[in-house]
Amino acid sequence: MNQEKMRLLFVCLGNICRSPSAEAVMKKKIRDAGLADRIEVDSAGIANYHEGERADPRMRAHAARRGYCLESISRPMRPWDFRAFDLIIGMDDRNIDDLKRIAPDVDSEKKICRMMDFSRDKLYDYVPDPYYSGAEGFELVLDLLEEACDGLLAYCRKSLK
Ligand code: 4NP
Repeated sequence: MNQEKMRLLFVCLGNICRSPSAEAVMKKKIRDAGLADRIEVDSAGIANYHEGERADPRMRAHAARRGYCLESISRPMRPWDFRAFDLIIGMDDRNIDDLKRIAPDVDSEKKICRMMDFSRDKLYDYVPDPYYSGAEGFELVLDLLEEACDGLLAYCRKSLK
């Protein structure tokens, strides 16, 4: 690919738990790698139930304990996101199916990928929805994202010039 810049969009259902966490985890890894001017990150939801809201307070609290500040405001996916971003990264298979359904064309569809496809230990193949879970569900989200984002960063490095 050899791109000057990469733009990543993380997508989950509500854009208040998993994708805002992926955004924060990935941004930290990008900053630590000195690639903040080369890789842009954003997040969005399939649904608009929580549009305009900050991330779920439970998710924010668990993330804060690991040093992440979740700053994103929930917004639904827009059709033009498929043009604005290079990778559209869904958290589970339902997200992937929904993204495929709303992708405006074949080129857009090719940008859709699964978060856990970037995982190296492959313990999970999706990031489970923590919304109706207890504390362990939120911790699992962060464990999975921290591990998979290493693989995603390695992929980005290969794709950048
Ligand atoms: P997320 O979690 O997709 O990781 O942001 C959810 C947030 C809200 C709902 C479901 C999942 N909800 O049904 O409102």
